Amino acid sequence: MNIANQPAKAVPALPDAQKVLEVQHYTDRLFRFRVTRPASLRFRSGEFVMIGLMGEPHPETGKQKPLLRAYSIASPAWDDALEFYSIKVPDGPLTSKLQHIQVGDEIILRPKPVGTLVHDALLPGKRLWFFSTGTGIAPFASLLREPQTYEDYDQVIITHTCRDVAELTYGAELIQSIREDELLAELIGEGFADKIAYYPTTTREESPKMGRITDLLRDGTVFAELGIEGISPETDRAMVCGSMGLNTDMKEILEGYGLREGANSEPAEYVVEKAFVGDGI
Ligand code: FAD
Ligand code: A2P
Repeated sequence: MNIANQPAKAVPALPDAQKVLEVQHYTDRLFRFRVTRPASLRFRSGEFVMIGLMGEPHPETGKQKPLLRAYSIASPAWDDALEFYSIKVPDGPLTSKLQHIQVGDEIILRPKPVGTLVHDALLPGKRLWFFSTGTGIAPFASLLREPQTYEDYDQVIITHTCRDVAELTYGAELIQSIREDELLAELIGEGFADKIAYYPTTTREESPKMGRITDLLRDGTVFAELGIEGISPETDRAMVCGSMGLNTDMKEILEGYGLREGANSEPAEYVVEKAFVGDGI
């Protein structure tokens, strides 16, 4: 019998499937990928969605359930595709598999965006700070390409702290591409990128700026280097995304400057979101 003539066995389609369009690996801990965007998906830059893959078949029933995790959308709301920036946890239920996706594969994406790192959760101000560690830069990769960020603020400061220099690559390339992007300049306005101050630091490998951002704020290094007097509730707004430790420490620091935590329902001077749950790897 000619196997080629047999009817193809139906492959069950994933629920809420989206196709992988691009994958780029940075280190053995980090990669980014782009997927198709569901036509119905509307989101605000800075929000997150649940994404994942089908889990292993149940040993007895053979049934498979989706294995989903929260992921910040790293692309802006106007983009045709969706970008994600991901960790690779060696024995992580999802990322031990997700790190092997290739162009043309499918992932599951639940089209229900939520999150606090949105412009609506902040009161009007003059200067906007994005404080991030590790993959916590993802929501800011979205907001840094969002026209409203530059319409609402005179200055936008993005700080990104990682263990080593290679882990800064995604952010460094993003800032560079924003500065060179003619389409963005047309969309947002010529010279918009001059409002961005990029402040990358490393903690475990030698680089031009060393140290945790929390220490560099406490001892005034950040302000001295950026030529800023300090953070005040009259002018400054902040968004924080990183480990539990960063979030807790930044809350204390920002409240010390007199900023209050905001939410979608009650905008104030700063907002925080976890980049992941747990103590890090
Ligand atoms: P899990 O069982 O989920 O995690 C295992 C352990 O790995 C955790 O306990 C923690 O110690 C560590 N870990 C998990 N995620 C990270 C991380 N991002 N950085 C450092 N250590 C981590 N992850 C992303 O990679 N990109 C995102 O944009 C992103 N956005 C998120 C937004 C929200 C609101 C939340 C709550 C989490 C987000 N995460 C993001 C984390 C993500 O949901 C998963 O935890 C991660 O993909 C690992 O999944 P896993 O099943 O492999 O391991
Ligand atoms: P450190 O190397 O001193 O722990 P991770 O890769 O573990 O998610 O960490 C990303 C970066 O966040 C690292 O440079 C780490 O510094 C830094 N970091 C971890 N906890 C805090 C914190 N509480 N405040 C500021 N930075 C932190």
